[in-house]
This record gives sequence, structure tokens and C-alpha cells, in this order.
Amino acid sequence: MSKPKTQLQHIIEPAIIPNESPSNRPKKNTEDVITQWSTAIPEYQTYKAGTFEYPVGSFYDFPAGIKMIIKQNGEEREVMDSCEAPWSLLTARELSDGFKKGPLKIIECGFGLGILSTAMMWELAGIPSDKPHEYYIIELNNEVVKQAQQWAKNIIPIILRMTPPGLPHIKPPEIRITIIHGEASTELNKLAQSPKQKDTIDLIASDTYPVETTTKGLNDLGSLPAVCALLKPLTGRFAYYPYTPGPQREIQRIQEELVDNFFRKSTKNWADVNPNPDYQYLRKEDGLPVRRLKVMVCKDPYK
Ligand SMILES: C[S@@+](CC[C@H](N)C(=O)[O-])C[C@H]1O[C@@H](n2cnc3c(N)ncnc32)[C@H](O)[C@@H]1O
Repeated sequence: MSKPKTQLQHIIEPAIIPNESPSNRPKKNTEDVITQWSTAIPEYQTYKAGTFEYPVGSFYDFPAGIKMIIKQNGEEREVMDSCEAPWSLLTARELSDGFKKGPLKIIECGFGLGILSTAMMWELAGIPSDKPHEYYIIELNNEVVKQAQQWAKNIIPIILRMTPPGLPHIKPPEIRITIIHGEASTELNKLAQSPKQKDTIDLIASDTYPVETTTKGLNDLGSLPAVCALLKPLTGRFAYYPYTPGPQREIQRIQEELVDNFFRKSTKNWADVNPNPDYQYLRKEDGLPVRRLKVMVCKDPYK
């Protein structure tokens, strides 16, 4: 039974209805932004470990890491930094928590540095299954797609060599990885229209980037009808990246109201992070680094 639509749901729906007729196609500007993002060459900056000192005298150490940047209209966008790994690891843990047996079918939107994907492989390798687990990654950027393909070739033997928890004596499950080269909302909508995929997905994780600045904070939530259509009733779960730079309260209220319209339950947790202070994306309004990131997992989708 589906929940009555709220005003908010009506507001987001026009942007997520599949684009069959010319009048429903994404606006020219959106198409341009998406094309630009897909062809941009990502840059990777490594940095050394260091210490951040607060004005009051306390401090924290941050580890060496890597930052991924994509240029948009000449401006450098900080897309991902390895300091966010604790968020990716806890998200993978919370998403797959409690699944005792496979096969699981999973969709991840936005490969980035592949940290969440790798963490999910580790979790999946610990869930026994007679049939292969299926893992789909949707990525928009051409170069990142190539890296995801390379990653997919190498990761399984590495993970399986590490004997994941719960599997010391049993045959490790097979994991089939498929990289889908495309825009997350468009691809999710396409998948949701396929009777083969509808109601079959166990987990969806979305950590994209607001390639259109107007979607800031909502870029992972623009396809919730498709997400809910794809997820299995009752057991299907969805995770998104809730943090957005700038004032938090209003955007978080909107995010939570949105997901409440599509899911009966959710769990909230926090991942501690020690960001390199040069990573502007994780700077609060007061200029100080963000020290914890919210991990949200939405459960029991409305159908
Ligand atoms: C923040 S990173 C993902 C980080 C990843 N979760 C990790 O743990 O490394 C965002 C990724 O989403 C991709 N992306 C941005 N917008 C997208 C969209 N609309 N559809 C698909 N991929 C998108 C970017 O190119 C980038 O690779």
C-alpha cells in the first residue's frame, strides 16, 4: 500500500519521471551539466599526515590520504576524500547488518574512490550464498568508470584472500560486479521499469555529488520512487550521504521529511572523521572541520 503523497513528494516527482516523451527530457542545462561531468578528467591529490590545532589549544591528528577533484566550469569541486572512509565503512556495515544468507542484489550510485564498494565486497564475502551475489555500480564520469572496471577485475581475489568474518571454513560466495556507465537517476528509473529488477534489490547505496548546485543535499534523494520500486518489500534498505556543506538544520529537515515519505523506518548512526583541514567540503560554517558524519539507513520501503 502506498502512502498518500505529500506536497514535497509532488515537488520532486516531475524531476524523476522517466523521460520518454520530448517534453519530459531533462532540460538542456541539466543535459549540459551531466555531459560536462561525464567527460571531465578527475584529478587526485595525495597529502601527508598532519595535526589540526583548534584555536583553544586542543588538536587532532589526521592520516595521510587522497582527495579526488573534478573541475566544473573551471572551478575545482572536491568530490571525495579518503578521510571520509569511516563513513563508507560504517554505511557498508549498517546496510548489510543482519543478512545471514545470500544471494544479495545491490546497487551503488557513485564509485568515487571505491571505498564504499570495497567495504561492501568485504561485507558480501562474509554472507554465505549458493548463488552469486550481484553488485551493480552506476557511475557517470567516463574516467571513474574505467577505474571502477579495473577495480572490479582485481578486488574479488584480494577480498577472498582475507577470509572475511564468518567464513573461515565455508566456500566463499561468488560476487558478480556490473558497472553501469550512466547518470544515477536515469539508470535507476530505467531499472525500476524492468519487471526483472522491480522488487528484487536488497540494498541501494547512493553517494553521488550535486553536479547541479541546485540539487545540493538532495542529489541522492531525487529518485526515491524508483529506489522504492526496486527494493524488496519489507527487507529492502537504502543509504544516502546526508552531509552537505553550509547550514545543516534546514537541509536535514527536508532530507528526513523526504525519506519519511518513502520508508517506514530508518536508523541513524555517526562515523567519526579526522579530516585534513585543507578539505574545504568538510568545513563547518564556523570554519572548523566536521568531526562526525551521519550514517542513515532507510528500511521497509512503502510500495
Ligand atoms: C562522493 S563520490 C563517491 C564516493 C564513494 N562512496 C567512496 O566511498 O569512495 C561521488 C561519485 O559519484 C559520481 N557521480 C556524481 N553524480 C553522479 C550521478 N548523477 N550519477 C552517477 N554518478 C555520479 C562522481 O563522478 C563520483 O565518482
